[in-house]
Amino acid sequence: MNLNLAVISGDGIGPEVVREARKVLDRIAEKYGHEIHYTDLLMGGASIDIHGVPLTDETIEIAKSSDAVLMGSIGGNAATSPWYKLPADRRPEAGLLKLRKSLGLFANLRPAILYKELQDACPLRKDISDKGFDMMIMRELTGGLYFGARETKEVDGVMTAIDTLTYNENEIRRIAKRAFDIAGKRRKKVCSVDKANVLDSSRLWRKVVEEVAKEYPEIELTHMLVDNCAMQLVKDPAQFDVILTENMFGDILSDEASMVTGSIGMLASASLNDSKFGLYEPSGGSAPDIAGQNIANPIATILSAAMMLRYSFDLDKEANAIEQAVSQVLAEGYRTGDIMSEGCRRVGTTEMGDLIAERV
Ligand code: IPM
Ligand code: MG
Repeated sequence: MNLNLAVISGDGIGPEVVREARKVLDRIAEKYGHEIHYTDLLMGGASIDIHGVPLTDETIEIAKSSDAVLMGSIGGNAATSPWYKLPADRRPEAGLLKLRKSLGLFANLRPAILYKELQDACPLRKDISDKGFDMMIMRELTGGLYFGARETKEVDGVMTAIDTLTYNENEIRRIAKRAFDIAGKRRKKVCSVDKANVLDSSRLWRKVVEEVAKEYPEIELTHMLVDNCAMQLVKDPAQFDVILTENMFGDILSDEASMVTGSIGMLASASLNDSKFGLYEPSGGSAPDIAGQNIANPIATILSAAMMLRYSFDLDKEANAIEQAVSQVLAEGYRTGDIMSEGCRRVGTTEMGDLIAERV
């Protein structure tokens, strides 16, 4: 198969972790007889430095014409980087939001899995982590507070900032369908998370999700308020299969879920549109404080590449090979610093990539 990939390495640890994911993909291509063509694109701070804007129209066009986008991370240290002296719509993050919107990537899949081997890195009590967990957070990615009208102005002499949270029923329905489809291939449970005791948008969310549920009688639907969900994620994460939620709640809950797996450096993600096209990136940020030191964990990016093979190319065998290689390397006791525990062998970013590529 020919895979035409756009690659956005980005800022901070982005280039380091993407390099390792490419290494693993190249190994897959060699072993299974695929041709991968990479086109490197600039986004975020790296694009601001060259073009003055975090995302150019040309970059959007090239990304659109590719089969899938592999991404590292974008952004820098907000306190020290000159990128954050720019107006909000020209900072690195604005590039990512514009790309998600331009490519119609409304469905963000963030799996949070506790690897048996990483139980020691899990911050939860042992009786909780003993049960393990394997959940998929389905975050709506192109609506809600992130894309509603916003404004800062003086109202009656008082500085006032307004952000609007809008969802229409079509936006809710399409992400709900995706969540139910995915639950059908898993443990057949969807927990829809909202704040329906306060927000109108959540009450509409709940109504539409219930309508969609009627088309999926084999799937069990429950609802949970977002504050309770934040608590349940540390109290009993094993209860969750698919968590379906809106953009901002999903942003927050997925960081929380990732940390209970041991490290945000383990959390992959896929952002999909209504076709096979997707953007694949680790859920974590650019970690500028550790950039360039060869200590970042590349596993989240490598697992994102596996998701790409599965969701954009239907290459399940190849995706499984990557996931198994990751498990194997962890079982053999190799760890980057973020997931290090006693008796394990500490390795750097490149060595971790080498090990996983070899096991493939
Ligand atoms: C994420 C990130 C982004 C988001 C930022 C960088 C805009 O936190 O992908 O979770 O909030 O969506
Ligand atoms: Mg986030």
